[in-house]
Amino acid sequence: MLKTQLEIPESFEIEVPGDKSVSHRSVLFSALAEGNSTISGFLEAEDPLNTMKSFSKLGVEYSKIGQNEYRVFSPGKKKLHSPNDELDFGNGGTGIRLAAGLIAGLPNIRAVLTGDESLRKRPMKRIIDPLRAMGSQIKSFTEKETAPLEIIGRILQPYTHKATLSSAQVKSCLMLASISSDIELDYEEPELSRDHTENMLQFLGGKLEKKEGHRFIIKPPFSFKGAHFKVPGDISSAAFFIVLGLLSKKGNLLIKNIGLNPARTGILTVLRNMGGKIDEEDLREECGEITGNLRVYPSSLKKREIPKDLIPSIIDEIPILTIAGLFSEGGFKISNAEDLRAKESDRINSMVKNLRKLRLEVEEYNDGYEFGEARILEPAEIESFMDHRIAMSFLILEKISNLGLKIDDSSWIETSFPTFHSILEKL
Ligand code: S3P
Repeated sequence: MLKTQLEIPESFEIEVPGDKSVSHRSVLFSALAEGNSTISGFLEAEDPLNTMKSFSKLGVEYSKIGQNEYRVFSPGKKKLHSPNDELDFGNGGTGIRLAAGLIAGLPNIRAVLTGDESLRKRPMKRIIDPLRAMGSQIKSFTEKETAPLEIIGRILQPYTHKATLSSAQVKSCLMLASISSDIELDYEEPELSRDHTENMLQFLGGKLEKKEGHRFIIKPPFSFKGAHFKVPGDISSAAFFIVLGLLSKKGNLLIKNIGLNPARTGILTVLRNMGGKIDEEDLREECGEITGNLRVYPSSLKKREIPKDLIPSIIDEIPILTIAGLFSEGGFKISNAEDLRAKESDRINSMVKNLRKLRLEVEEYNDGYEFGEARILEPAEIESFMDHRIAMSFLILEKISNLGLKIDDSSWIETSFPTFHSILEKL
């Protein structure tokens, strides 16, 4: 089995930036809520900043009042207006898909939504079809139904959707369409995907009726007043340092102020099943979200089966979990994760290609990949594939192994975790 050489100090404290999913939603809900709002703990990274820029083009005013803190003024959803040019969401799938829903339900707004080369390859049919079924006028300019998307807002019709894929982006897109259009939505998904939109809706006073299984109904009116949105630290960013802490030989790591929404803590469940010691401390609720500190201790990891129902809650953490798998007795296997192919890159292929460069024997499947216990790895040039999480995962591997890996382009990390390098250097 591979051995790590990294030692970290006792009780070394770190803080990771604000949660990306909650930051996007704080921009969207502060646009829907009439009057003044404040956002604190906002993730000042390219993706959420692009969402903020897009909504300022629709008439919402954002001013920075401190570090990661913004004052927002919205004239209210009915007074938002068409932008003068395209809305560019950069690399952000959450930004474009959620904004598409919100805009689709606002009559008199016409907007073209687009993004970078990676985003323009990602599937949009998953939102186009149900939005059309709600009566929305949305059009893609490409044969593959990818961005750019042209939307002409309308009052939509009440809608019932039984999803076959558990996707928080699709769910939130339809919820925001129903909220902006003031219509009822009955939504069901096979497994629970992250429920930050549900939490924020209720935090603002909106009603959500839970039904059996993963089904709920939201009903108008959806008229919100400005509020104070508090964004917790991002567990998906913390995951890189959780794995680093578990794989260090000595010391322990305290990661402060992390969002611990149960639909996001699958990474903790999986790592604990593998033998990882991670404690939760100082749990509290902020803005409808459970928040707390995590303490991570050096641990010996073993291969364990990852159950299907946990996939939605670890979907963004699979690349870094794979790095933990390189140091696990018995190796690593992920399956039931076909949607990984539709992320910032085809993450199944990006991981398999890079692992093979390290001379690891990896079996690729349509819905995942597998390798046996890793014994020796070779230095290589890693390709980031325009994907922040691929770049960060292999930088963590380099930190704990000193293999001599080079990453072709780590600038993608700016989309989600601008302080990643500075935290890594301190350890
Ligand atoms: C997100 C949902 C997930 C996740 C993405 C953020 C969100 O995508 O991968 O990084 O904030 O709603 P899917 O809903 O496509 O699984």
